[in-house]
Amino acid sequence: MKRIETKTTKNSDQITRRGFLKSTAAGTGFLILPSGTRLGAQAAGNKLNIALIGSYGRGRAHYRSINTQNVVALCDVDEEHIAIAAKEMDLPKAKQYVDWRKCLEQKDLDAVVICTTDHTHSFVSNWAMNRGLHVYCEKPLANTVKEARIVREKYLSLKNKIATQVGTQRHAQENFNRVRELIKDGAIGDLTDVYAWGNRQIPKPGYLPALGTPPKTLHYDLWLGPAPFHPYNPGYFDANPGAGCLKWNMYWDFGAGQIGDMGSHTIDLAWNAIDAELPTTAKAVGDAYNPEVTPVEMHSSFDFPANDWRGEIRLNWYQGGAMPRSPKSYVDLNKIGHGAMFKGSKGFLIADFGSRLIIPFGNDADMSYYQPRAEDKMIPPLGHFQEQWIKACKGDLKTSCDFEYGCNVIETMLLGLVAYRAGKKLDYDGVKGQVTNNTEADALLTKKYRKGWTING
Ligand SMILES: NC(=O)c1ccc[n+]([C@@H]2O[C@H](COP(=O)([O-])OP(=O)(O)OC[C@H]3O[C@@H](n4cnc5c(N)ncnc54)[C@H](O)[C@@H]3O)[C@@H](O)[C@H]2O)c1
Repeated sequence: MKRIETKTTKNSDQITRRGFLKSTAAGTGFLILPSGTRLGAQAAGNKLNIALIGSYGRGRAHYRSINTQNVVALCDVDEEHIAIAAKEMDLPKAKQYVDWRKCLEQKDLDAVVICTTDHTHSFVSNWAMNRGLHVYCEKPLANTVKEARIVREKYLSLKNKIATQVGTQRHAQENFNRVRELIKDGAIGDLTDVYAWGNRQIPKPGYLPALGTPPKTLHYDLWLGPAPFHPYNPGYFDANPGAGCLKWNMYWDFGAGQIGDMGSHTIDLAWNAIDAELPTTAKAVGDAYNPEVTPVEMHSSFDFPANDWRGEIRLNWYQGGAMPRSPKSYVDLNKIGHGAMFKGSKGFLIADFGSRLIIPFGNDADMSYYQPRAEDKMIPPLGHFQEQWIKACKGDLKTSCDFEYGCNVIETMLLGLVAYRAGKKLDYDGVKGQVTNNTEADALLTKKYRKGWTING
């Protein structure tokens, strides 16, 4: 067997594959590989062994980047989707699973990419982290406040060992960096208010009635997973990759509506510039409450304490037709379908994903209060978002949207949905994860799961 010299490792029997990938990638020395360790393509290319859980739909957007590594497992509740993925990625040897719990038992895994339905994200992520795996999970990372807190806590306990990334890939757009620089450098003075909005509307009356039987290839009971039982209806499914989520994400048991959908991207544009953790209050108004379907139109708002570079701020989220007021009649915010706006003591900054606009207050505002950042101090480009995670798995474990960042965002937004359901302004203790002024709302921070399913397996 081929040997690689070592000068650092005493107990070579205990070298894990993940430790090997990390240490070789970081160039920290040489290793003697324990007998049985696979060499060849993996070792030479220093590749990760990845499981793709949710192999079609949004999963397809990951084929190219993860196929630079070893995709050793494909998991999907629809066997036809596994077959498509195996063919399109040319992976005849990847192991195949319909149940992600079985998939995570595969011993040679280093990392998982999760592209399943929203109501399973926190479950699969937490189980994967429990096995020490690196995780990339599509947005939204959780469907309840409690789920977000469990995932963050688990991640924080492992952050020196694993790399995580929430799938908000728009974060890699350069405009995210420019907006952050402008806000932090005082281009609109002292930040006071932040607004983000999205105009997508997918109204539904309620869960779909029983209709037909699931196709033979679909394991419908596994698709439901931890969600309460709802009868099969083909209306929950869409064959177009990446559009399937628009068939189920508005139902409380399967998603969080626009907050989990486009909201995850748009709020990220705002959040990236405010260095916030968790809010102290939440309130929301919107459509009349429907116990089956999340609201189309809603406005939620949150108060955040000051941090080391700004004072207290209020963050507002608007969806489905609700909109903030434009600072100038000649700026029609409705023309920005998904956007963010920042108000400071000296003016406004308005942004969509790719561009931004500053409106200083007053006719004589010359912005002399603001010193543009020198070119060499600008935030460097993030590069390819998925590749950032792959590199982090093998290196310094650092990503832009790790599970601490991602859980803070989604916990806040889901707390907004709790305030909407409670119809009251809530006081929130982010350290304990408790609504302190309303016991009924506090109970809505979590929900019941189907028998046999646990988030902590
Ligand atoms: N980052 C983005 O821009 C972006 C874009 C679209 C979708 N998404 C996210 O990706 C996720 C999937 O969305 P979609 O539109 O592809 O949905 P979808 O329903 O079309 O597809 C999900 C895929 O996962 C499979 N699946 C569902 N539940 C599973 C389970 N429990 N175990 C294994 N496989 C399972 C489905 O069979 C399907 O192949 C959603 O969370 C959505 O928010 C992100």
